[in-house]
Amino acid sequence: MALSLPSHGRMGAMLPVRSLLLVKMSKTSKSATASLLSCPVRLLGIRAIREFSIANAPQTFKIPKYLGYEEASSIPLAYSTVVGSVFSDLKVPIPPAGSSLPLPPNNEVPVLVWGGSSSVGAYAIQVLHLSGYKVVATASPSNHEYVKSLGADIVVDYRDEEKVVEEIKKATDGKLSLVVDAISENHSTELAVKAFGPDGGIISTVLSVDDSVKKGRTDISIVSSGARIVYQNPKYLDAFRFLEEALEAKLFKPNPIEVLPQGLLSVHDGWNRQRAHKISGVKLVYRIADTPGLADV
Ligand SMILES: NC(=O)c1ccc[n+]([C@@H]2O[C@H](COP(=O)([O-])OP(=O)(O)OC[C@H]3O[C@@H](n4cnc5c(N)ncnc54)[C@H](OP(=O)(O)O)[C@@H]3O)[C@@H](O)[C@H]2O)c1
Repeated sequence: MALSLPSHGRMGAMLPVRSLLLVKMSKTSKSATASLLSCPVRLLGIRAIREFSIANAPQTFKIPKYLGYEEASSIPLAYSTVVGSVFSDLKVPIPPAGSSLPLPPNNEVPVLVWGGSSSVGAYAIQVLHLSGYKVVATASPSNHEYVKSLGADIVVDYRDEEKVVEEIKKATDGKLSLVVDAISENHSTELAVKAFGPDGGIISTVLSVDDSVKKGRTDISIVSSGARIVYQNPKYLDAFRFLEEALEAKLFKPNPIEVLPQGLLSVHDGWNRQRAHKISGVKLVYRIADTPGLADV
């Protein structure tokens, strides 16, 4: 089983399961928990450190044959976050089962995805593109081709704060009203506010952002349903069926991954890389079974 962790490291990543599973914690998973408590990454949600997990069938998705567990492990948490952002906060309708994807383009309502090369941003772009929306995204120039390959119509460099607002306004014909802020720090929400059209709208954030960044724009709402919404409201479970269909048709790509050696022993190094902003356009993955000594405990 493979594990990918969100950069905040607060909660356990949901492990991909092939269908309705499983039974009980194995001896191995208890061992993994015990080992972890004595190593320096105790903040990790230990509920995720197990080889098998129990899940309700409607809250799972089938992994297509062409995808390995390592790649699939990047999907559940980041995708559930996008369900909260796109389908709940921005009120984009979930494409009905059996739709021909992508849905016909609707260029009237452009959506900005701030942080298009991040894990959450990459999934937001794909969901919006498949739902027929025009997508404008921000990313470093080295990731522009990657972000376009996910379905973004226009990509702008966010690092020049003078220019980025003007470029977004141009790309959205001055009528930006919907934003997924997949970064929600380092001025991202503040800059997105400046790019809005005259009628305001909604910014969905992945972190809590203070309303003061709106600088008096009462016509703009900052909201954040988060991944939890998937489990709170059964109507969002349809998003898993949409995901399954899009994956099966190879219309939805998991994040590019980098598998770190030595399983859980590398988690600390991975977080240090994350904190130093040394991760770009890739998801770090740890194979639990690669952890030295785990099988002997
Ligand atoms: N992943 C999850 O499951 C998850 C779930 C809930 C919440 N979150 C939260 O979402 C945020 C992003 O997490 P993640 O896992 O998606 O991150 P990530 O993939 O590790 O983010 C790295 C990417 O962020 C981009 N980036 C960094 N600063 C940026 C900025 N100021 N503006 C635009 N892009 C920027 C970089 O783009 P360039 O290299 O192109 O510059 C890089 O590709 C974190 O705060 C995390 O806590 C994540």
